Amino acid sequence: MQHRPAWAPDEVDIERPSVARMYDWFLGGSHNFACDRALAEQAMRVFPDAPYVVRANRSFLGRAVTALCELGIDQFLDLGSGIPTVGNVHEVASAARAGVRTVYVDADPVAVAHASALLSGTPSVSVLHADLRDPEAVLRDAVRAGGLDLTRPVGVLLVSVLPFVPDSDDPAGIVASYRDGTVSGSYLAISHGTNDYKPKVVGEIEDVYARTTQPGVFRGAAEVGRMFAGYELLEPGLVDLIHWRPEPGAIESDPLGADVARYSLIGGVGRRV
Ligand SMILES: C[S@@+](CC[C@H](N)C(=O)[O-])C[C@H]1O[C@@H](n2cnc3c(N)ncnc32)[C@H](O)[C@@H]1O
Repeated sequence: MQHRPAWAPDEVDIERPSVARMYDWFLGGSHNFACDRALAEQAMRVFPDAPYVVRANRSFLGRAVTALCELGIDQFLDLGSGIPTVGNVHEVASAARAGVRTVYVDADPVAVAHASALLSGTPSVSVLHADLRDPEAVLRDAVRAGGLDLTRPVGVLLVSVLPFVPDSDDPAGIVASYRDGTVSGSYLAISHGTNDYKPKVVGEIEDVYARTTQPGVFRGAAEVGRMFAGYELLEPGLVDLIHWRPEPGAIESDPLGADVARYSLIGGVGRRV
């Protein structure tokens, strides 16, 4: 049986793999348990590129946050923010502009505990333990506890988290609720695993993730595109993630190169009309 580390909140089942902790392991982090590592290794047997893909996802997050700061956004709602790692939203944002407020939201107790411990001395940052599938409560707490001002534009980030919202929970409807809770001129960034390229492999990954606390699904570009209803997509639109405003030379130097099927990851950023 796995020894419970001091940083693991009591309510966490350390024998049940979690998406947040597997993702942490793929990124080289240390906030994961034996069960997370075992299932992540199993995922790598069907999807060996996973460590590169999660880095591509983090890279998109950074580029999107920087772009939004340059467009004047000074407050972010990061939904499904994960276990803190390199290039967290408030760090990227503070490099781009001063005075940015960030509210991190996650349902995973380890993600929240670690973020809270790490960020308690950072006044411009708040961490909420909440389920993003309840937009009304999340937006209310983001204002009351997080200090977001929803009378002004906000950057809403749904980066590699919507796969963990099943169709039965109406992900597009949830995204629309966040849209309706924010003012015109707000922005939405989404990244999402796609089943457009390798449906068979993706099905096998979904089978692996079915054993986590938050089973995940991949979706096609058409379906992800519909989640941007009420937003105007910024250039270059909803694209393979590596093609969303890449840093010069980044694609060429990535071990997966420009093989978009190996990433199977799409995303975009939209401006609320
Ligand atoms: C794959 S990680 C992505 C982390 C981060 N957004 C990134 O892109 O680097 C997905 C995160 O979403 C969180 N999550 C999944 N379902 C959630 C929900 N219903 N409400 C809040 N967080 C959720 C998980 O706990 C996990 O930390």
